[in-house]
Amino acid sequence: MVALVAAIPMSAQAETGYDAWLRYAPLPPTVLTRVGSVPRSVTLLGDSPVLRSARDEIVRGLGSMHASTIATGTSLPRTSTILLGTLDRVRPVVPAAPAAAELAPDGFWLGTATARGQAVLVVAGRNERGVLYGAFALLQRIALGEDVSRLNERQEPAAPIRWVNHWDNLDGTIERGYAGRSIFFENGRVQEDLSRVRDYGRLLASVGVNGLTVNNVNANALVITDGFIPQLARIADVLRPWGVSLSVSIDFSSPRRIGGLDTFDPLDARVAAFWKDRVDALYRAIPDLGGIVLKADSEGRLGPSAYNRTHADAANVIARALAPHGGVIFYRGFVYDNLMDWRDPKNDRARAAYDNFHPLDGKFDANAVVQIKHGPIDFQVREPASPLFGALRNTNQAIELQITQEYLGQQRHVCFLVPMWKAVLDFDMQATSTSPGTPVRDLVSGRTFNRPVGGFVGVSNVGRDTNWLGHDLAMANLYGFGRLAWNPTTSARTIATDWTTLTFGHDPQVVETVTSILLDSWPAYERYTGPLGAGTLTDIIRVHYGPGIESSERNGWGQWHRANGQGIGMDRTIATGTGFTAQYIPLVGAQYESTASTPDELLLFFHHVPYTHVLHSGKTVIQHIYDSHYQGAQEAADFVKRWRRLDRLIDRQRYASVLARLEYQAGHAVVWRDAINNWFLWLSDIADANGLAGRFPGRIEAESMARERYANTPVVPWETASAGQAMTCEPGETCSARHRYQGPAGTFDVAVQFFDENDGASRFTLFTGDRVIESWVADGEFGSPSPNGHTSTRHTVRGVRLSPDDELRVQVTTDGMESGALDYIEITASP
Ligand code: GCU
Repeated sequence: MVALVAAIPMSAQAETGYDAWLRYAPLPPTVLTRVGSVPRSVTLLGDSPVLRSARDEIVRGLGSMHASTIATGTSLPRTSTILLGTLDRVRPVVPAAPAAAELAPDGFWLGTATARGQAVLVVAGRNERGVLYGAFALLQRIALGEDVSRLNERQEPAAPIRWVNHWDNLDGTIERGYAGRSIFFENGRVQEDLSRVRDYGRLLASVGVNGLTVNNVNANALVITDGFIPQLARIADVLRPWGVSLSVSIDFSSPRRIGGLDTFDPLDARVAAFWKDRVDALYRAIPDLGGIVLKADSEGRLGPSAYNRTHADAANVIARALAPHGGVIFYRGFVYDNLMDWRDPKNDRARAAYDNFHPLDGKFDANAVVQIKHGPIDFQVREPASPLFGALRNTNQAIELQITQEYLGQQRHVCFLVPMWKAVLDFDMQATSTSPGTPVRDLVSGRTFNRPVGGFVGVSNVGRDTNWLGHDLAMANLYGFGRLAWNPTTSARTIATDWTTLTFGHDPQVVETVTSILLDSWPAYERYTGPLGAGTLTDIIRVHYGPGIESSERNGWGQWHRANGQGIGMDRTIATGTGFTAQYIPLVGAQYESTASTPDELLLFFHHVPYTHVLHSGKTVIQHIYDSHYQGAQEAADFVKRWRRLDRLIDRQRYASVLARLEYQAGHAVVWRDAINNWFLWLSDIADANGLAGRFPGRIEAESMARERYANTPVVPWETASAGQAMTCEPGETCSARHRYQGPAGTFDVAVQFFDENDGASRFTLFTGDRVIESWVADGEFGSPSPNGHTSTRHTVRGVRLSPDDELRVQVTTDGMESGALDYIEITASP
């Protein structure tokens, strides 16, 4: 039977970013020529929701890219066709196809062959998911302009676990989500309309992600009650056709909270019965549930320590309930004491994961996995690989990577994370003496120690913003996570180039520019934020966004950098420090034990050194801090220039929205630069040899301007405002600050540094004399309600003509509870 199916037209929203890398834009003729001839029909052997997704995706993708109609059928036609099916079904028709047993689950074969006298392009999977992944892979090759006329390619995933976690709360908020509210929940319920979940499932499937944990690790116990499980089942139903299985995060105290027991002791038989009952109920509603994620004994979450039980006891009681159903428990390795005494120089949060889990190696059941954050602290801009990866030989493990940019610019800054993840995945833990080593990617996939399960988990936190993550360029991280989970040896450049081509098209200038911005973005972010492995230097107590250097000190959170008047860094050596380096295999630990062999970028993670310590680069630590912050901020400014060259080479909407974020980022990079440099200048009392730090020619402090109604207010922390203070206005007032220009006549850029608080939409206006030059609204709903490093924002008005004696005036009309705070203006020659 052959039916003609019209290609589904490209979504009307195609260039809002909603379609992400699955736009299937019509291919230019030169690209079509490279691809070669592709059959215009699809033949599907077998039938199931996943197989139909595969077929429909080819109809949609091919039809759109080739601007043509694709026929579908269920038996071989008398013309060439794309043959889709599992290897078991395909092999009798195409004997050249590999046997199913030759491929790992989810793997696929793409090949060209002749079947019954016709040329066929075969997409054959080891299982149904493999067929779906093969279909996406074929479409990606076509979209990238690769020749598909002579395919013979086997692909299989590096690991069975390729999951995303979501930190969504049932009320619709998302912990550490930066792109709107939850696509899953609202008001304590699963959303009625799950069309976004369906489209998200498609995005995940396209990069091989096969599991999704839907709720926050700081879990609400209600999620596994009888009232809620049917709602979860609705989400599972929507994801199932994309081969994505649902899983849930649980509250370990559930037996007491919702089970009517007076205990949650994992060794109590009643508790075991409770878990069995709940797990059975979950599987009755969701037979393909992936499993359960558990955060226990961490950051206030209850856990087995309440009964002097071990993490293995806790994991195993749930593992045993899951085992008959084939489910897996992910026990999070992110366990530490956030009330540690900061005065004790031997205390060290970095030690916590290893100290907690290494003694339990071999004590976890076969369907339990320890889920380990990539570094020993918490997603800082630079961390070494967690030593726990090398220390679990008889326990399954998975690496937890964070796609949502909690400490890395929260999707207001572009920060392509694939190079950072690769630095850890490729790191050789030297866990065995075998050559060519034991990179983290092989430890977590289970390959090194022959573990039955293992793999990759990405904390995704997409939201209801149309483009999913808020920043169009941030989607490269979601895409990149999937690509690495499938094949962690893929290079960052390949991932960046492929993503850019799929997302923005084939124009070589676009591809080169976007790819290089992506690849330069993490190093730039590192330069203008945290130096030499000291941490991101952000406000670690609350927002984790703007600078807040002292917030990490003198408290129990353990993100200490120990900066003082003489030096900086955590001494984690065996010889004189916390002994953390002993957690690595000795060969690796020895490298970190000495300053001479520790790479510069991690020096302050492992050592406390004087500011005058000379790096391998030849610079002193303090000069490195000054220089790197200027370099990083300059690079952020250059991203804007580079992006501007793409004007008219990409669609208006995405061009403009990325430009706005890059311009904001360039301004905020200056906030970071000045905060960090001023703070270290003050603390070290060592001048910048280049004379840049602490000197700001062309800057006019608001407090030195003539003012109406604006009042002087100290800013906390002081380093986040120029000269430590700002002018603030009472709510409901209009305030202004004036400056009489005395320089030469000419055309200038005037940067207005103000604070965009999140509790109103104040209007700022820049005047020369009585003439309005530009007016804008500070309507950020993000960060903080006060003037500080999260809210400090730069608005640059370009091409302002000024003559001596002209008056520049900044006026604010406040809104809500905002203070309309003004920091300074800066006048520089227009380029
Ligand atoms: C970080 C993050 C928390 C999160 C925690 C976790 O500390 O800031 O919001 O709950 O990690 O991973 O459990």
